[in-house]
Amino acid sequence: MKKTTIGIIGGYGQVGRKAVRYLLDETSHTLLLGGRSTPDDSMQDRAQGRSSFMVLDLFQDESLSAFCDACDIVINCAGPSSVIGDRVAMAALRHSVHYVDPGGHNPVYHSLTAHNEEMKSKGLISILAIGILPGLSELFPIHEANRSFDTITDMEYSYIGRDRWTHNSAYDIAWGVGNIGKGEASIIFEQGKPKEVNLLTSGKTVQLPQPLGDRKLFPVFREELRDFVESRNIENARVYGNNWGAWVSLATIAVRLLHWHGTKSQLHQSADLIVKAAQRDLKDKTPGFMLHLTMKGTKNGQPLSLASTLYFEDTYRATGICAAIAARMIAEGNIPTGRHWASEIPDTELFMSLFQQQKYDIVRKYDSGSIFSVRKVAA
Ligand SMILES: NC(=O)c1ccc[n+]([C@@H]2O[C@H](COP(=O)([O-])OP(=O)(O)OC[C@H]3O[C@@H](n4cnc5c(N)ncnc54)[C@H](OP(=O)(O)O)[C@@H]3O)[C@@H](O)[C@H]2O)c1
Repeated sequence: MKKTTIGIIGGYGQVGRKAVRYLLDETSHTLLLGGRSTPDDSMQDRAQGRSSFMVLDLFQDESLSAFCDACDIVINCAGPSSVIGDRVAMAALRHSVHYVDPGGHNPVYHSLTAHNEEMKSKGLISILAIGILPGLSELFPIHEANRSFDTITDMEYSYIGRDRWTHNSAYDIAWGVGNIGKGEASIIFEQGKPKEVNLLTSGKTVQLPQPLGDRKLFPVFREELRDFVESRNIENARVYGNNWGAWVSLATIAVRLLHWHGTKSQLHQSADLIVKAAQRDLKDKTPGFMLHLTMKGTKNGQPLSLASTLYFEDTYRATGICAAIAARMIAEGNIPTGRHWASEIPDTELFMSLFQQQKYDIVRKYDSGSIFSVRKVAA
């Protein structure tokens, strides 16, 4: 394998340090960690002589250029992604380095679309929105569909999670809540057609496996999944999401209804509110994130139903690992040139097997008429 230098901006943050851990443990690449401050001793100890550090502020052109120049691949784990926008992605393009972004700011994809031909001619790759939500949340149903079905008629998909969100992550949650309609819409598919529904009044109580149980979720369809549903001709499709915890749910409803997302200062205040709400929700509780999917269709001409669940407690670790796997797949030549969503990664099988090797289990229940089987797929 060619030795590659992978730069991680925000490499000492919650997501960044988990991406670094994965790359140190599972690859032999050289790492360059960047942030506005210097890393603490524990981070320096863990770097195992394969990492170096560079102080940078990504809002300063000179230091961002120097950082990009020193790398082959840049992973941007700084936040908030809705403030950074395409700043690091465009710098990566100018300096001819590959780019990975676990932030969920969809407009970056569209701004890179205008440069897609240039990226291809330079042999460059960008993978965007590759955390757990978005990221794994799109890869998971696509992977499950590819491995189990020839045709799909129905899909119902739910995601829900909680953690002690950092201010940066909470800012992006507030931005996302305020911008539903841009990239994430309240729609459902009925008889092959998208239909707009009201976000708050079209909520549904979904029966989820333990430890979630019955939860009220709301219709949210990301544009990446819409592409998937349309390309696979899935007639009926519904996607539901929510925060797991009454306080963060209330906080996000307040942000949406009271329009506390119009300015940066409102978003910072909303982020503070979400951080406090998350601390209350997490009092005496562990973090958790669940993707739960049901699909109906056919395999080899026979009817098939599937219920598939992925649940884990270490949401920041999983986010960092998703970004790090994307960088690893670029370094190992497994991604074509151009800009991609997580959902456009061609080899979902490889991505998901690398992810599951990190001790994440998918529980599948198949129903094919007379045969009913339960299969837990170990990592
Ligand atoms: N897709 C997903 O599933 C998912 C899940 C969680 C988080 N995220 C996203 O991941 C991003 C990071 O979140 P987090 O919770 O890890 O945040 P965090 O813990 O606050 O880490 C952010 C890091 O970025 C660095 N940083 C901030 N501003 C910078 C700048 N101007 N120049 C250079 N470095 C800078 C910070 O270090 P210094 O302060 O020392 O500079 C810090 O190490 C956010 O955009 C969040 O939305 C995505």
